[in-house]
Amino acid sequence: MSRNINTQRRHFLQYTGIASAAAAFPGLTQAMNQSVGNRPSPDFHPDVEIEFKLESVSIPIFPGPDTRVWKVYGKVLKGPQQSLENLPGSYLAPTLHLQTGQKVRIYLRNNLPAETILHWHGLHVPSKMDGNPMYAIHHGGTFVYEFEILNRAGTYWYHAHTHSVTAKQVYSGLAGLIIVNDPEELAVGLPKGAYDVPLVIQDRSFDSNNQLQYSNHMMQRMRGFLGNRIMINGEPDFVLPVENRSYRLRLLNGSNSRIYKLAWDDGSPVTLVGTDGGLIPAPKNLPYIMLAPAERRELWVDFSDKPVGTELTLRSIPFSGASMHGGMMGGGMMGGGMMGSRRGGMGGRMSGNALPAGGDYPVLKVKVVKQARSNDPLPQHLTLIKPLRLQDAVNRERPRTITLSMRHMSALLNGRSYKMNDIQPDEVIPVNSLQLMVFDNGYHGGHGMAMPHPMHLHGEQFQVIKREVNPRFRGMHASVSKGLADFGWKDTVLVMPGERVTILKPFNDFKGLFMYHCHNLEHEDLGMMRDFLIK
Ligand code: C2O
Ligand code: CU
Ligand code: CU
Repeated sequence: MSRNINTQRRHFLQYTGIASAAAAFPGLTQAMNQSVGNRPSPDFHPDVEIEFKLESVSIPIFPGPDTRVWKVYGKVLKGPQQSLENLPGSYLAPTLHLQTGQKVRIYLRNNLPAETILHWHGLHVPSKMDGNPMYAIHHGGTFVYEFEILNRAGTYWYHAHTHSVTAKQVYSGLAGLIIVNDPEELAVGLPKGAYDVPLVIQDRSFDSNNQLQYSNHMMQRMRGFLGNRIMINGEPDFVLPVENRSYRLRLLNGSNSRIYKLAWDDGSPVTLVGTDGGLIPAPKNLPYIMLAPAERRELWVDFSDKPVGTELTLRSIPFSGASMHGGMMGGGMMGGGMMGSRRGGMGGRMSGNALPAGGDYPVLKVKVVKQARSNDPLPQHLTLIKPLRLQDAVNRERPRTITLSMRHMSALLNGRSYKMNDIQPDEVIPVNSLQLMVFDNGYHGGHGMAMPHPMHLHGEQFQVIKREVNPRFRGMHASVSKGLADFGWKDTVLVMPGERVTILKPFNDFKGLFMYHCHNLEHEDLGMMRDFLIK
């Protein structure tokens, strides 16, 4: 199991962690930064070496004019060619296929007309390799990443993480998948190869000239961007052709702010086999699954009772609490089911022709096109996950509370906005400690705007311990609660309005700065992001 790998390597990592910690204290100067990621280290011997070129190009997405996007072109310089898969017909960045234990070096060459940096979402890597905005490189610059894949098998991803423009850069195309495999997971017997399908779900808006539309209006920044159409793997009008057999579908919500409530339109339950940090112990049948920005959900689905020609749709079905509401939290306006409906909520009225947040629309169309010759049954046991224990948390008596709030045109964590190198005493965490943390999204009522916040922590994956809902919000919460599915290892957790979510999060191996933020990318850019200093 991957935990064993982590333990075996801990000694080595603690040793190498000393160097990275030196560069991570507050007051760090720009001069010290210059050396980070500048050149390959002679002591690092990569199994896989990859070059990424970031270019502003036009690609054909629709009939008619090409669409200008920010595209990542990848090339394997060393190691297995199948480590990287370019997606030529898509604005998405290449998919990386990596193995646990592999050492990876990535040259990021920025040919964009803007500064940028990439972050490896969900991967446990040293602070300097984590894509903190302080490491952004200018046009013409190169950043050299070197890290080892310590994570267990799972669906991870990478995306731009540039100060105050992450949303715009991800929207323009700077995001791609990382699929990590390990021997334990391969032995489970889930569908493989062509039957293991990654699906990146994003909403986008295009103008009549086929160009991406994005605005910086304060309303959009407060609510988050909502597009008028769904793209799958960067393609419009996507239909997944399948054989009538079982499949493993790896869903990533790569949208800036849109939250999905996914259900099969034939009424079959959704069978969940994995989340952010890989497989869960056993499959779970759920009526629907929530998918917040940055979250991954792996579904198992069997089409074997469906004759060739059958069509099936994974829809986003209505739920409440999806959209911003201008009323005071706890003021009695939140309990009903109106918010997020086509008529209710400020967000709904302001979103123009966007698909309404919490509305009803198709997400993924599937068509059975071929008679299958084989099938893989659903394994009843998938993996072992040792639950983290409350008594092992060093701060079990005093959980770290992170209060989420939106007011005065700002989005805040513990009342603070993002600032580079601005570590406050309550943001310092001892390395190799297990921390009890609470995300509080107006659990006690209070002022400000009620919005869901998908909260993400960099570094190691965490486990969700409990959710508590303010009684006033219970009605609204009931429309999502059966699909929250806090199973297994997570790196992003959806915190609904009026809710308080408790997690146990390990901070092992690496010292330095690690970010925590809302993954509604407009909120992140608005300042709903901070750094922890691990020391
Ligand atoms: Cu996917 Cu700091 O984010
Ligand atoms: Cu991340
Ligand atoms: Cu948010």
